[in-house]
Amino acid sequence: MEQKVLVAYGSANGSTEEMAEAVARVLRRTEITAEVLPARSVTDLDRYGAVVVGGALYAGRWHKDARRFVRRHRGALAHRPVWFFSSGPLDPTASQRDIPPVPGVKRAMAGLDARGHATFGGCLTEGAQGRVARMILRNGKGGDFRDFAAVEHWAAGLAKELGAMAHG
Ligand SMILES: Cc1cc2nc3c(=O)[nH]c(=O)nc-3n(C[C@H](O)[C@H](O)[C@H](O)COP(=O)(O)O)c2cc1C
Repeated sequence: MEQKVLVAYGSANGSTEEMAEAVARVLRRTEITAEVLPARSVTDLDRYGAVVVGGALYAGRWHKDARRFVRRHRGALAHRPVWFFSSGPLDPTASQRDIPPVPGVKRAMAGLDARGHATFGGCLTEGAQGRVARMILRNGKGGDFRDFAAVEHWAAGLAKELGAMAHG
């Protein structure tokens, strides 16, 4: 199997992109080649043997770039191992327990027979776009709750699964 993995992300304020980069860094520690791209910029999946899709959660749904990515590439994704991750809660809950995918992501996972999903803590800090984002920040409910150790741990599991697939 071609061991090039795409890590595509849908992000409004950049924090999910950094998590996608962290996933790719862990995969690259093995013999896997990993490429990180904004979900909206991907035209086809021909070059990739497996795909990770990360979406920031906004009002109970994935960022639209991640949703559109899954819709647009449904056919190709159905023929590849796929993992999803979501980012996330602006509190420590994601580091304390497993948070299941939101309904839309769960449906997409079922349709694609996705191999796994994780919800990681999110991040909302000064400068974030949007009226609601500014309101959350004004109310002191923002912060950086990303848990890169958890992201790396998850990515290491994924690398192991990919390695097992490659070596039969
Ligand atoms: C308007 C708004 C709505 C949000 N809705 C949710 C939500 O439904 N569930 C959740 O877990 N996090 C929610 N968040 C938190 C974001 O998912 C979090 O800030 C995320 O890390 C943003 O990723 P990004 O920087 O890549 O855009 C929301 C944040 C904002 C500003």
